[in-house]
Amino acid sequence: MPKITLKEILEDANSRKYAVGAFNVVDSHFLEAIVKTAEECSSPVILNIAEVHFPYFNISALSAMIQKRIEQSIIPITLNLDHGLTMENIKIALDCGFSSIMYDGSHLEFEKNIEQTRIVVELCKSYNVSVESELGAVGGAEGGELVGEADPLKYTDIEQAKIFVKETGVDALAVAIGNSHGKYKGEPKLDFDRLKTLNSELGIPLVLHGGSGISEDDFKKAIKFGISKINFFTGMSQAALQTAKEFFDGTQEKYNNYLLMNQKIEKSIKDIVIEQMNIFGSIGRV
Ligand code: 13P
Ligand code: ZN
Repeated sequence: MPKITLKEILEDANSRKYAVGAFNVVDSHFLEAIVKTAEECSSPVILNIAEVHFPYFNISALSAMIQKRIEQSIIPITLNLDHGLTMENIKIALDCGFSSIMYDGSHLEFEKNIEQTRIVVELCKSYNVSVESELGAVGGAEGGELVGEADPLKYTDIEQAKIFVKETGVDALAVAIGNSHGKYKGEPKLDFDRLKTLNSELGIPLVLHGGSGISEDDFKKAIKFGISKINFFTGMSQAALQTAKEFFDGTQEKYNNYLLMNQKIEKSIKDIVIEQMNIFGSIGRV
């Protein structure tokens, strides 16, 4: 099936009140675990590749492999640049065939964020590619410290968000409501009142970053109040590391140990993805 845009994949989620998981791919094992799970569960899925992960692989080779896998698949899949920070890498992603760009101007002043996001939206239009952007700032940093914390002073401002969406024409907005990248310091406390108002005022799908560590109840509430895309990475990478650690604590001495370990890693990622898809309500939606 050809890949689809973020706008297309979120339309159904938004109207039928479930969320599509956006899982980060960093190698062929993550790719296979995520896509195979989505196929087995008849779930739509978004594949994220984060700009901060570019130094760890060959982006054009990895995206070519991903696109081949998407073409072979029978479920709707969106290929999204996660936290695009520079025009240079956004252009690389567009030329590699991504169908969605998340532009992260959350570190910029409000006016500058609008100005830069507009430039990205214009550019992406010519490729027929969707744009997600971020207003306020999600806690922690993708690719930064393992434990992150949300700063209430950086939560998404409702009045600013109305102006931002109107002036930029983005297809989806990542909100800062107490969510944070990496592991949470203590229990996450999401500002659901803010989310509810953002949802009723903005009229576009909202995105929750920092999915790892949020409880089932909170995910369900967030979806009820307008979240249609949930970004998730740390939970998978921690599970993969734990599996590798347990594997090497064992005493296997086989020629194909490395391959066997990767098989187990893939299985551990699959288990996490199925658990999340179940909570997000995306199973059986294809
Ligand atoms: P976690 O790593 O906290 O799950 O967040 C992922 C994310 O937001 C990717 O953009
Ligand atoms: Zn994120």
